[in-house]
Amino acid sequence: MAQCGRAGTEQAGHGELVRSRTAASAGASRTGRLEPSGKKCYSTDMTIEPVQYRISGHNAATVARSIERGVRLGHLQPGDAVPSVRALAERLSLSPTTVAAAYRDLRQRGTLIAHDRSRTVIAHRRDLATRLAPEIPDGAVDLASGNPDPALLPDLGPALASVGPVHRLYGDDPAVERLLDLARQGFAADGIPAEHLAVVGGGLDGIERVLEVHCRLGDHIAIEDPSYIGTLDLVRTLGLIPVPVAIDDEGPEVDALTTALDQGVTAVLLVPRAQNPTGAALSQERAATLRSLLADHPEVLIVEDDHASFISGVPHHQLIGDRPRWAVVRSVAKSLGPDLRVAVLSGDDDTIARVAGRQRLGTGWVSHLLQHLTATVWSSSASDGTLEHATQTYAARRSAVLDAFRGRDITATGTSGFNVWVPVAEEVPVVQGMAARGWAVQAGEPFRLDAPPGLRITVAGLPVERAEDLAVDLAEVLDQRLGTRRG
Ligand SMILES: Cc1ncc(COP(=O)(O)O)c(C=O)c1O
Repeated sequence: MAQCGRAGTEQAGHGELVRSRTAASAGASRTGRLEPSGKKCYSTDMTIEPVQYRISGHNAATVARSIERGVRLGHLQPGDAVPSVRALAERLSLSPTTVAAAYRDLRQRGTLIAHDRSRTVIAHRRDLATRLAPEIPDGAVDLASGNPDPALLPDLGPALASVGPVHRLYGDDPAVERLLDLARQGFAADGIPAEHLAVVGGGLDGIERVLEVHCRLGDHIAIEDPSYIGTLDLVRTLGLIPVPVAIDDEGPEVDALTTALDQGVTAVLLVPRAQNPTGAALSQERAATLRSLLADHPEVLIVEDDHASFISGVPHHQLIGDRPRWAVVRSVAKSLGPDLRVAVLSGDDDTIARVAGRQRLGTGWVSHLLQHLTATVWSSSASDGTLEHATQTYAARRSAVLDAFRGRDITATGTSGFNVWVPVAEEVPVVQGMAARGWAVQAGEPFRLDAPPGLRITVAGLPVERAEDLAVDLAEVLDQRLGTRRG
């Protein structure tokens, strides 16, 4: 295997890695390229040596496989241009027709996109391996996995016992009226129209269905930066190109959204409260400003991912106004439990009709048993105070952590939900330092596009009394890390 820092080549199955001595451009140095081992390659003077992947193959099928392998291993990144048909044919001693056939096959499968006649690039669609949940070291306090506190979720027992054992048949109404009623009341309370509703299999399922019926491969989607990993992966897997929109505590920044809209995005995807990973929530003022900005772009679809609705602790200020194309996805995952894979989607007539029509062709509907269970748990936990208690407990835990951090000059954000975000200069050493002290926290890297580094700390299960211990340890780690700034 070629040594990191040395020029050389290496056979990588159906492709070849070539290292050049050229110093990396600013853009390339941010992402770098991966060695087969997964390590970034730095030369001694700390400029990254870009690693190029050489496509190989002796017929159309093996050339296509070589490119797919390069994408799968991360050697070919979305946006990378592949050689022209003629150039690759010449290098591989194949006919241009053979290479063109390989490229055509990959275009049809969504791996390549032809930008124009002279430029074909790797698409942003990726068939991603499922990301594994973060590893929590033995005995460490889990502030990394992003889960709600199981102790604050409603008891499913009584609700399960009350779900009637009734068979439903093909042709029945896809949605359970009790569930729609609860959703309607919630939407109405927040000024969100609820004339057209659909029940979907969770927040991500709803987002996917809405994007699929409106967007085409290669479309640009404005998305908060940093953003929830699952949504980012979903956008990329659908072959859409995420356009980062910087956010602060009050939601998407006006200038950042203006720039994204000027680039011509098809959709804006945002989390109006309990933003993951930053804990931001759209303020009333910011929402009003963004609504008037968006009024100049009526063709843009707005998708609001209200994943933490009931327990977010702040009102839902929306961006949909009276737009023609919009959807709000309200999932019960954070409030009633992630295993209740149910969300209610409200949207404009066309969007909901298309989503429901497509759903009928596939999964058909979300099981009525699950819908009844969700409706029962939803109404009982709203009336017996379970949701209110969870909301207040999360808010108290978040405030305790933010106060303790403030007391030690650690900058952190989080106005809603159960995540806080701590800007740091370097993520990995801080995550490791915290792990050594018994705290598992999540590095911000997978959430970020252009956003600076940070940590996501999920305070959902952290008792208020332990906030001070956390702050003491974090302050110590930050102080010890050379080049790591506090705040
Ligand atoms: C912002 C955001 N959206 C969506 C989801 C997933 O929601 P669901 O489980 O309902 O698909 C999550 C889960 O953590 C999330 O943080």
